[in-house]
Amino acid sequence: MARHTVAGSTRWKGVWTGAALMALPTLTAGCDDTVFGSEGGEAVDGEGWDAVQTVFQENCYSCHGTGVGLGELDLESDACADLVDVPAANPVYGGALLVSPGDSAASVLWAKCADTGEYGGVMPTSAAMDQANIDIIADWIDDGASCDSTGGGGDDGGDDGGDDSGSTGGDDTGEPETWQGDYSFDNVQSEIFDATCTSGCHEDGGVYATLDLTSSAYAAIYEQASSAGPNYIEPSDPSSSYIYLKMTNDESISGSVMPYSGQLSAQYVDLMSGWISAGAPE
Ligand code: HEC
Repeated sequence: MARHTVAGSTRWKGVWTGAALMALPTLTAGCDDTVFGSEGGEAVDGEGWDAVQTVFQENCYSCHGTGVGLGELDLESDACADLVDVPAANPVYGGALLVSPGDSAASVLWAKCADTGEYGGVMPTSAAMDQANIDIIADWIDDGASCDSTGGGGDDGGDDGGDDSGSTGGDDTGEPETWQGDYSFDNVQSEIFDATCTSGCHEDGGVYATLDLTSSAYAAIYEQASSAGPNYIEPSDPSSSYIYLKMTNDESISGSVMPYSGQLSAQYVDLMSGWISAGAPE
């Protein structure tokens, strides 16, 4: 696996200029992100696992809190045990460890926060955090990723290292599916929306419920304006259809590629494009 150098990341070990960073303007990285509140926020003060947890609490719980668990990742309860030496759940990350003690550059957790691009999109999805927060994570990992509370000096809160939420990873970008030649909405719904968009995000109660892509998706997208402007689906014209543009990470989109984990493989893009080109029939 490719190792990243961390040459570009300025380490501020022990040098906290938190106060100077408090006044950062709120980042508005795009319409998608406004519903998630102000992620990408302020610098956390401190170091060690306690500070890491504060970073998670302020920037990640909206999607990785207990019971939300996007990306099959719970950063709220028993988070340390679920991170250290545990392979990432997302099958496209090839079993890389979320946290590899002593080696932040090899850790998916750091790589996503630092936006190296090696493991899909940046976390949080709206915009990278303040560098000080990213460095808290790097320093914690490089110092051995101890789950001890920094202040207490006691033993850790019983990380039994128990469940590695392993590679159950739902749908992946596996083999070509049965739609080949059948560019129907049924296939778009089941192979794209149901398989990758709804769970925890584009559904009632999800973090982006505004665009509900569950069973009622057709009426919500066909010739319906997106919050960014262009229609979600413009019949017969993929390159004017915002959903297609988001899937292909077109330079005109706001926010991130969809899904966050990175572009779906060509066959899925082909399905969307073929269906739209056929007039997007219901
Ligand atoms: C707006 C929602 C959202 C926020 C906020 C968010 N994430 Fe994520 N995260 C996701 C989604 C969706 C995925 C699955 C796609 C992917 O792997 O990029 C994910 C995946 C991940 C993964 C890979 C998990 C695995 O096992 O494959 C890591 C690590 C991660 N996030 C860390 C973070 C951290 C750390 C923060 C806060 C600093 C954060 N995320 C904030 C939505 C979010």
